[in-house]
Parts: sequence; structure tokens; C-alpha cells
Amino acid sequence: MPIIAPSILAADFANIQSEVEMLNSSEADWLHIDIMDGRFVPNISFGLPVCKAIQKHAQKPMDVHLMIENPENYVEAFKEAGADIISVHLEACSHLHRNIHQLKELGCKAGVAINPHTPISHLEDVIKDIDLVCMMSVNPGFGGQKFIEHSFDKVKRLRELIDRHGSAAQIEVDGGVNQDNAPALINAGADVLVAGSFVFSSPNPLDTISRLKSVN
Ligand code: DX5
Ligand code: ZN
Repeated sequence: MPIIAPSILAADFANIQSEVEMLNSSEADWLHIDIMDGRFVPNISFGLPVCKAIQKHAQKPMDVHLMIENPENYVEAFKEAGADIISVHLEACSHLHRNIHQLKELGCKAGVAINPHTPISHLEDVIKDIDLVCMMSVNPGFGGQKFIEHSFDKVKRLRELIDRHGSAAQIEVDGGVNQDNAPALINAGADVLVAGSFVFSSPNPLDTISRLKSVN
């Protein structure tokens, strides 16, 4: 069964408590929290105070996706704001190995996010050190974008890379995930599905999460 991580980016921010409580009562496994700085990506989402507000109500692990430059300056604060898993972008880190070990020293699960144009071979020398690869299936910055089809093949190649190195890293697919592409993603080797607009724009998010959870 896949791990389902609904993305808060598509939730109703004016009712964040009830949205988080809905996720608490759902079959969702993690809460995916998208942080955008208007520099690494061309959009600003929200930051630490909102993360802390989510933490007050969240009863599930907080999976924080940092789409920001210089993440090393902020990871400690995000850990304090409730992050259990933190992903930094490979493209934003000149010293990725150091960034990964900083996350581990903080006691977080260490994730590395990669943009659609980034070859998975760039993970080769860190794959054994990380807990999660957040593989972008859209260009990061906005919710509700169209899934990039090339991602199916990329998940397969990432699964091969992980297995070849005997790494325990989980594969998270992020962007444009829905009921139609979820089965092929699981089949290709994905462990975690992030879904924002597909969950929150649906008439019954609880039911939508439950249907994603039972994909196999
Ligand atoms: C994109 C974010 C995604 C996004 C997913 O920059 O990282 O997590 O919120 O949203 P959907 O599922 O709507 O593509
Ligand atoms: Zn994300």
C-alpha cells in the first residue's frame, strides 16, 4: 500500500485547523507541506508560523518540502516547527552531502528533492545516506499542474538505482498525482504519493484519500 501525503498547499488556509483535523481522521499517512521562497521557485507559499500552526493540530508526520535557496539556514527552525521529514532541493544545494548530514544530526528524516530536468544519476553518491527522494513530476512552484509523463520511466530508473545501491530511500512522487496515474506510479516503484489539488478539490477528500490509499 502506498504512503499517501496530501499537500496542504491546496487546503483552505482560512480553515487550517479543520483541514488538518480532516487529514487526521483520514487514511492519509503524512502531511506534505510545501515551502516556497519566491527565489528558488517563482512563487511564495507560507513559512514557519503556518508550519507551527499545522503542528499544533497534526497527529501525523509532517513532511516538509523546502523549495528554498540556502535551506541550511532554515532547517533547524523547520524541525522546531514540527518537521519530521525535510527535503531540500538538490538544485539549491552546492554542498548536498553536508546538507543531508545536517538533517540527520537534527534528528529528521533526510529527503532530497529533484526537479524534472535533474538526472537521477546525480543522486548516485548520496543515495545510501538519504531516507527519501522527492521526485518532482511537475516543475515546482505551483499546485494543480499537469503531470509530466516522462516521470513514469524516471521512477523506474530511480527504483533501479536505489536497489542497486542497497539504499532504504523511499520514492515520493510530487506533482499532478491523481487516481489515473497512481497505479502506474506504484507499479514503477513509487512508495509515497503526494496529492494536493486532486484531494482538496474533490467533493469528498476523505473518500479520495481512501481511494488513493487502496491503489496497488
Ligand atoms: C509543487 C509542490 C507540490 C504540489 C502538489 O511545487 O511541491 O507538492 O503542491 O500539488 P498537486 O497535487 O496539485 O500537483
Ligand atoms: Zn511538494
